[in-house]
Amino acid sequence: MQQIAVIGAGTMGNGIAHVFAQHNYKVNLIDVSAPALEKALGVIQKNLDRQVAKGSINETVKTETLQNITTYTSLADGVKHAGLIVEAATENINLKLKIFAELDQHAPADAILATNTSSISITRIAAATKRPEKVIGMHFMNPVPVMKLVEIINGYATDAEVTKTIVSLSEKLEKVPCVVNDYPGFIANRILMPMINEAICSLYEGVAGVQEIDTVMKLGMAHPMGPLQLADFIGLDVCLSILQVLHDGFGNPKYAPCPLLVNMVTAGYLGVKSGEGFYKYTAGSKDLVVSSRFK
Ligand code: CAA
Repeated sequence: MQQIAVIGAGTMGNGIAHVFAQHNYKVNLIDVSAPALEKALGVIQKNLDRQVAKGSINETVKTETLQNITTYTSLADGVKHAGLIVEAATENINLKLKIFAELDQHAPADAILATNTSSISITRIAAATKRPEKVIGMHFMNPVPVMKLVEIINGYATDAEVTKTIVSLSEKLEKVPCVVNDYPGFIANRILMPMINEAICSLYEGVAGVQEIDTVMKLGMAHPMGPLQLADFIGLDVCLSILQVLHDGFGNPKYAPCPLLVNMVTAGYLGVKSGEGFYKYTAGSKDLVVSSRFK
């Protein structure tokens, strides 16, 4: 399989395109927005520059990686010769169902259709196609060029051969695949999101401040980021929607999102992407400054 199509040029989509292209796959990066594609190429270039600066790749690899990526605004054109399509569009069930129905029409009959969804049911997405046995979850972690894990999720009907192919492909990308089954939140977010929610509840109940909560988890548990900083990094809207999937899917009150998280999302405080969440972000600054609302 040499040609890969990636749908969605946002943070995850451009990271996924970057990693495939760096490992010599021809990548068609598809997005309805031409400016989003332009921006994605700029981000990929910047991230490749970091790798060159660190000496983990050389200039030739950088040039070849960029040459391996072609951009498309038409889904039909971008997927027509692809062996694997990885969908990384916005986390919206109706959008994903529509994209998969279109993929089923335009992708080659033997192509594997993967989704990078962080929590939407693979079985439900697969049911939008006439090839549910070829639909699988391929959940990369942010930042994709850095994080080693690919969580591979078998839908109810996923064929074992498809899983084998995706495991071996992930290894070719120098990632570590972990195969799990399709239940709400899979494994990564079933475990991560209750931890983040508990950190937010601890803040809400006044047990400790933002910095204290994050420092306990960073220095006490060797996490690279504390849970509140990580929530800002992932996006508070994304955290909320995953908690809602867990809450609805299991019907267990232990997954109920903290009211503080709900308020912050409703008010548009989404973390890094909106400029403020538990911390305040200023373009160009690497300093971690607690939001004045929590001081
Ligand atoms: N592309 C390429 N390289 C990158 C990069 C990118 N986008 N971002 C960071 N890097 C590289 C840096 O160049 C640096 O390389 P070296 O180790 O060779 O020096 C390295 O990564 C570390 O980066 P920084 O020095 O800039 O910063 P840091 O040490 O603070 O690390 C971090 C940044 C890697 C993001 C680290 O803080 C971290 O691991 N955080 C936790 C990330 C995490 O948990 N991700 C999963 C989120 S959950 C998810 O994605 C799925 C979901 O469903 C919600």
